[in-house]
Amino acid sequence: MRIKKTILSLLFFAITISNSIADEGMWIPSNLEKIYANMQKLGLTIPINQMYDVNNPSIKDAIVMLDYGQCTAEIISPEGLMLTNHHCGYGNIQFHSTVAHDYLKDGFWAYSKSEELPCPGKTASLLVRIERVTDRVLQGVAFDAPDRERNMKINETITKIVNDATQGTTYEANVFPMLNSNEYYLYVYETYRDIRLVGAPPSSIGKFGGDTDNWMWPRHTGDFSMFRIYTGPDGKPAEYSANNVPLKPKFYFPVSLKGYKENDFAMIWGFPGSTDRYLPSYGIKFKADYTNAASVKLKYAKMQIMKEYMDKDQGTKIKYADKYAYLANFWKKDLEETKAIRKLKVVEDKYSVEQEFKIKASQNPEWEQKYGSVINEFEDIYKERTDTKYTLANFYFFETTYLYGCELLNFIKQYSYLVDSVKQNKVTPEVIESVKLNSAQFFKDYDMVIDKKIFAKLLQYYYEDIPKQFHPGIFKKVEMDFKGDFSKYADYVYENSVFSTKEKLFGFLKNPDANRIEQDPAVQTYFSMLENNMKILTKYSSSNARLIRAKRMFLSGQREMQQEKDFYPDANSTMRITYGKVIPFNPRDAVHYDYTTTLEGIMEKEDSSNDEFIVPEKLKNIYDSKDYGRYAIGGKMPVCFLTDNDITGGNSGSPVMNGSGELIGIAFDGNSEAMSSDLHFDPALQRCINVDIRYVLLIIEKYAGASNLISEMKIVQ
Ligand code: ARG
Repeated sequence: MRIKKTILSLLFFAITISNSIADEGMWIPSNLEKIYANMQKLGLTIPINQMYDVNNPSIKDAIVMLDYGQCTAEIISPEGLMLTNHHCGYGNIQFHSTVAHDYLKDGFWAYSKSEELPCPGKTASLLVRIERVTDRVLQGVAFDAPDRERNMKINETITKIVNDATQGTTYEANVFPMLNSNEYYLYVYETYRDIRLVGAPPSSIGKFGGDTDNWMWPRHTGDFSMFRIYTGPDGKPAEYSANNVPLKPKFYFPVSLKGYKENDFAMIWGFPGSTDRYLPSYGIKFKADYTNAASVKLKYAKMQIMKEYMDKDQGTKIKYADKYAYLANFWKKDLEETKAIRKLKVVEDKYSVEQEFKIKASQNPEWEQKYGSVINEFEDIYKERTDTKYTLANFYFFETTYLYGCELLNFIKQYSYLVDSVKQNKVTPEVIESVKLNSAQFFKDYDMVIDKKIFAKLLQYYYEDIPKQFHPGIFKKVEMDFKGDFSKYADYVYENSVFSTKEKLFGFLKNPDANRIEQDPAVQTYFSMLENNMKILTKYSSSNARLIRAKRMFLSGQREMQQEKDFYPDANSTMRITYGKVIPFNPRDAVHYDYTTTLEGIMEKEDSSNDEFIVPEKLKNIYDSKDYGRYAIGGKMPVCFLTDNDITGGNSGSPVMNGSGELIGIAFDGNSEAMSSDLHFDPALQRCINVDIRYVLLIIEKYAGASNLISEMKIVQ
């Protein structure tokens, strides 16, 4: 009897636990009451108003959006000191690096505020408040209103809401569609623009393991860097000035030395960038088969060319470090995502959800009328995309020309206002000055030889992989005048364009001539690619509108059919919460991964012949002498740990908190086994990789000797 009861109650316990473990989801902080009971069950002990309170200091006040959502940071001192990832500060560290002062290689530490380095262009936004505005936005908008009418009405209301929220303030605000435009939320921020670099470990700590270990566990990366927010003397946001003062935050995190053990509560707040968890099976299949495959191919081509030159020259290596890291990160992500989609049968899983939806809809006349054709619509949209390949052409345009491709073409995009004003003979001295000022940074990290090779390779891939009907006019010229040889064409373009070097551009600016710019082969190439893609976009945008509508219907139907379930919105660079616990995992048959790593592991991985696995001498000394101060546990120095929090890109640098809301780590990565996580959450495999705050403190105190920074913090034992 006893045994049975125990088994029964165990079973019951298991069921309630699995119901309460809603680790999946990126939740909106102003809706904390929806998840609070579950969070308490897992070990959260602080009240809601200590986390989110519009009128009093709360955790939300210490969560920082960096660079409009590129990354997250957290405030850890009463003087506006922030922690984020090393890979989030990487571009800023690189900006200040030269061969003589290579902060990427050697690290950087400010031992007083006067040594901190300004970071032009960097921003830090703090949340003022969040408000659900669905009712206002959707008032008078019929559920099935035609898209045009619907969008016009919605945009009008959104403009009003944003104006009301910002008028007479320095705030910035935005209304975000959530749950595939079934809900709307207003987010109001204050954005600070004087951000200074305070500290960064050498890459041999901050990027230890390099691209080999990226997206992998077990991990040993000290992925952190430090910045400080400055304000005008009045405490308001201000551009950089020597007279500015450190921000006095409403709230900053206590830093905990208590650590964690398996199953301890862990929560993360931050700015996840983008997920597509309600994407239908057809869309996932299309991504794996087409766009991911293209992304992997094009990114790898760019990386190979950069690497060839980076390996030859230290200066080039610094110049291209940030660009290369970006490509390598997303190349690996897209590669592993496709593998995970296939291995975890994500398409098949979603397909069965869709079939169930169809059946359910058919059993209720009202649902059948509203949602009966949604799944077929998805099938149709992706069939058309697969058949015609215009989506792929659009994707190639972005990867070759518009966003991440050849830098010369991208430069012309950015300075098309210059091109326009020269063509119309309306160029002013102000325009010339601003081009000179802004382009200096571009040319600092640009190498013509590398870029020319990238130009040739990427356009050649476009030529070969995309059907002729989507080719830009300029390809005719390459065929006729250069026998289709893109290398020869590239030589010609870079030889004859005024944009291909700083000297030529600055020379041209002395006497800007409309004819010259009309004839410029890089300008011609860019505009030919652009014009061509405009035509493609007309098709693409009508398909996109159909998709957006079908996605809205699909999720609306799911919510209607499963009213007991709380659906969470996809990531969209707004502040979110994910809660869960510290937890190991089994990546493959017979393999168990522990939830924490130590300095021993760094020594095991050490390889002085491999750039990615060099251990700096000073860290080895700390290891040899076990000089871990108050940061070790059982004689060992913790480095990284795993939680099952639900994060994605943009969350990088987010604070990991324990049940008392104290800082125990910084989130910095996900794991390749669950790389399909932007499309589907897999509780058994999806983990969040964090750097242990005690390792961060060890590096600041013992490695860098920056006790000035430690003494600013509130450290709790
Ligand atoms: N995978 C991480 C992310 O996307 C970035 C890691 C950067 N580190 C590196 N070795 N590239 O958030």
